[in-house]
Amino acid sequence: MLFDFDKLPSRERYKLAVSCVVPRPIAWVVSQDLEGMVNAAPYSFFNVFSEDPLVLAIGCGPGKPGGKDTLRNIKALGQFVVCMVPETAAEQMNATAVDFDSEVDEVAEAGLTALPSTKVKPPRIGESPVAMECETYKLIEIGPHTMVLGKVLAMHIHDDCVMDAEKNYVDTVKLGLVGRMHGRGWYARTTDRFDMPRMTPEEWAAKKAKAAE
Ligand SMILES: Cc1cc2nc3c(=O)[nH]c(=O)nc-3n(C[C@H](O)[C@H](O)[C@H](O)COP(=O)(O)O)c2cc1C
Repeated sequence: MLFDFDKLPSRERYKLAVSCVVPRPIAWVVSQDLEGMVNAAPYSFFNVFSEDPLVLAIGCGPGKPGGKDTLRNIKALGQFVVCMVPETAAEQMNATAVDFDSEVDEVAEAGLTALPSTKVKPPRIGESPVAMECETYKLIEIGPHTMVLGKVLAMHIHDDCVMDAEKNYVDTVKLGLVGRMHGRGWYARTTDRFDMPRMTPEEWAAKKAKAAE
């Protein structure tokens, strides 16, 4: 079935996209206004796109009148922290998505631990096994959305999830991260995996030849 985006209103395009582009990693963004008020919220229009520099992107929707606190804070301070969401903190992540007033510190409201960052002012969430300290790289307007590109300045990873600090080997399974699926409330665990090594052209040719035998 073909869905022609020229004929679809934005809401329907959104429904199709979030139903099919799954699972999406969740950026649990901690930001701060110029007075120091802390804000946290999840964003699943999110991924990393390069490593030199390491740049990540977050798609921020228009939200309430005046815009979402996350975007307003990022525009003001030019710094933020992206934490990854483990299953053990999924309910607290969901609590930080409540449409609170700007005066509410969602980290405290959800009973989370704010730990100091090293290179940026906003704190990181202690319950998250991975936190990336970021400065704004670029802001790109896409219709009513803003794509926030963030340059990662430093990464915190819980000690028990680091297998070999010399080689930068992380125990990805132990992170226990979740991703966002379809609809307003579906999520996926990262416990169901399979391994499929990459192939050289020679290995591919050998595989093809074997299949043709
Ligand atoms: C798992 C999850 C993912 C979300 N992803 C996005 C997103 O990618 N973009 C967006 O604009 N809002 C997203 N939201 C909604 C925001 O988290 C929500 O509007 C929040 O209240 C914004 O808070 P803020 O005003 O403090 O930034 C998501 C909500 C949840 C629960």
